[in-house]
Amino acid sequence: MPSDKKPPSRKAGAVRRSAATRTDSAALAPHIDRDIDGLNAAELAEAIRFHNWRYFIDDDPVIPDAVYDRLVRRLQLVDAGAPILAQVGAAADVDEDQGAAGDKVDHTALMLSLDKCYDAAGLTQWEKGLGGTLVASPKVDGLACSIRYDARGRFLVAATRGDGRRGENISQNARRIPSIPTSIDVDRLGSAAAIEVRGEVYLPLSAFARVADRFSNPRNTAAGAMKSKESPGIPLEDLAFFAYDLLGCDVSTEQEKARLLADIGFTPVETEPCTVDAAQAVCDRIAAARGSFDYELDGVVFKIDDVATQVRLGATAHHPRWAIAYKFQGDSDVSAVEEVEWSLSRTGTITPVAIVEPVQLSGASVTRATLHNLSNFLRLGLHRGDLLRLTRRGGVIPHVEANHGGGDDAFAAPAICPSCGGAAVAVDGTPRKVDGRTETTTVLRCAAPDDCPAVQRGRLTHFTRALEMDGFGEKVVDALLEHHLVRDPADLFHLRPADLLPLPRMGPALAEKLVAEIQRQRRVESEVFVRALGVDGLGHHAASLLTARWSVGDLRSRTVEEIAELHSLGDLSARSIVEGLADQASLIDRLLAEIELVAPADDAPTDASPRLHGEVVVFTGTLTRMSRRDAQQLVSRHGARSGGSITAETTVLVVGGDELESARPSTKLTKARKLEETTGRPRIASEAEFFDALGLEG
Ligand code: IVH
Repeated sequence: MPSDKKPPSRKAGAVRRSAATRTDSAALAPHIDRDIDGLNAAELAEAIRFHNWRYFIDDDPVIPDAVYDRLVRRLQLVDAGAPILAQVGAAADVDEDQGAAGDKVDHTALMLSLDKCYDAAGLTQWEKGLGGTLVASPKVDGLACSIRYDARGRFLVAATRGDGRRGENISQNARRIPSIPTSIDVDRLGSAAAIEVRGEVYLPLSAFARVADRFSNPRNTAAGAMKSKESPGIPLEDLAFFAYDLLGCDVSTEQEKARLLADIGFTPVETEPCTVDAAQAVCDRIAAARGSFDYELDGVVFKIDDVATQVRLGATAHHPRWAIAYKFQGDSDVSAVEEVEWSLSRTGTITPVAIVEPVQLSGASVTRATLHNLSNFLRLGLHRGDLLRLTRRGGVIPHVEANHGGGDDAFAAPAICPSCGGAAVAVDGTPRKVDGRTETTTVLRCAAPDDCPAVQRGRLTHFTRALEMDGFGEKVVDALLEHHLVRDPADLFHLRPADLLPLPRMGPALAEKLVAEIQRQRRVESEVFVRALGVDGLGHHAASLLTARWSVGDLRSRTVEEIAELHSLGDLSARSIVEGLADQASLIDRLLAEIELVAPADDAPTDASPRLHGEVVVFTGTLTRMSRRDAQQLVSRHGARSGGSITAETTVLVVGGDELESARPSTKLTKARKLEETTGRPRIASEAEFFDALGLEG
């Protein structure tokens, strides 16, 4: 690309398709078959440069627009400041015809609601005379969204449901959701018409857990983020999309629809065929499994599978006659509040928790519900004995919806920290706009977190976990603190084996081993280092984005605005990161005096479909093929987490050396064997079995 000539924007609209895009382009295009998400910033920039050249200079593009767009968007995500992005006219630029956020969008066909029932009788009533195959899918509790693509598969506009006729333009935010493709391969649809995909935008519960102190529930968080114009409050990349409808394509069944949606890059909502007779049983099964989903669901949607029958049945002004939402029972009930507990987090925030009389909700007994923060506690105005309306959002997280009163003795926020007895102070969060109003959330904090034992313990445990320090379980951390051997993570580096000997059950060999483990932490990847600080908002996602862009030194002098500008980090997270890093300045200085920050050990791309996805792997004994640190990094590149000790979460224990035959097995092996006997896991494998079976090489 000649540097004196800025290329025209390579927008999908400007692209002429060459024969190569239709034939076997994989042979010509090095990046079609590779996992784009596995490429690092330099590789992405190189690929974009190459394809720009093929397109502009050679006039012979070798990859489809959709793949090119994915390369550009991926680079925007991993290195928003990459110079090549300034040249490409940003494939993700908003198309001129897209309209602005908040503009009204007319729906092509009414976006209807669903008829509801609450019990078997209601379901039977609906089914009467219907017959045929049904499909069942979870009723996802999120925000309905329609996305239109033109006849060439280019994203046109995304909109909310609104009043069913007209919705609100949410294109800019929708484009940032990883499970919403910004272009689709229309060749797979076998039709040349514009299409529309409808579905539900939702916030996975695992992502909601990271912001639960700031937001009341996943649905509102997702809806607020999607409708926001400036600060979504959460990374929009955390949101996800389940597709449940496809308009503009000839399909004969719902099952075929789901397959086509998957073919063009969507995640279809899970769709299970069932007969009318089995519908109640399917509903019961989904309700029972509710706690295992990573999203909130508040019922099961049943639809007639056959599209011709759907057309014949038609719709009322409110809902189609061929579908019904069977809402779960027991989602909500009232119970009296007995106590408000104030619990201290790792970062020094004191969170109120309502203790209520046991109440059955969605099949489980609930006795505790978080009240999130001081503002929410004050808003509810709680008295002992007040009747609270409780729900289990998504069947999982107990939530106080409302206070119906009836109690007498008012609860007050504590003036002191429940852990150290020092002062507790109310701290205002960043004001944010909610539905046009400015809202500020106030939280209660321990005024002297550095001296507070619970915060010290939380920080140290978080640090040793983030660094996956072998042997540093909660017992060791507690003992170190109780014996005043350390106050914070930096103190670890001054420990000598002799210092540890007074600890309970400590012998010279274990003391040597623990100190050696600490010494191994003198070289740490920047991403792991910043994550280990335990700053709110600095989890995996933010840490990897920030350290890909800045060195730790540079990061510390960035402003809230600079961090918030970085793709996908909102103002709230940015402020929390800047404040957290400033609060911990002296700890960071002392840690950096001990630790050398290093680049990731190996940039090898993660496997496209990680073989160890979902596994939690623990190593014990001396590995012969590679160091334990390398083994941990290897399994994490293959999608597993590695743990330092055996817990109920552990799925595999890998045993090095000849320990499996040893008469004196390690504590980890003994514990794993006991657990395996009762729960069937973890699996226990020798080092050779493990690496050979998985075909993993050092
Ligand atoms: S099918 C005519 N399937 O629930 C609408 N909807 O309360 C056909 N929803 O507006 C929709 N999960 O936004 C369908 N598996 C699912 C769904 C689902 C959630 C939403 C949808 C609908 C709302 C009605």
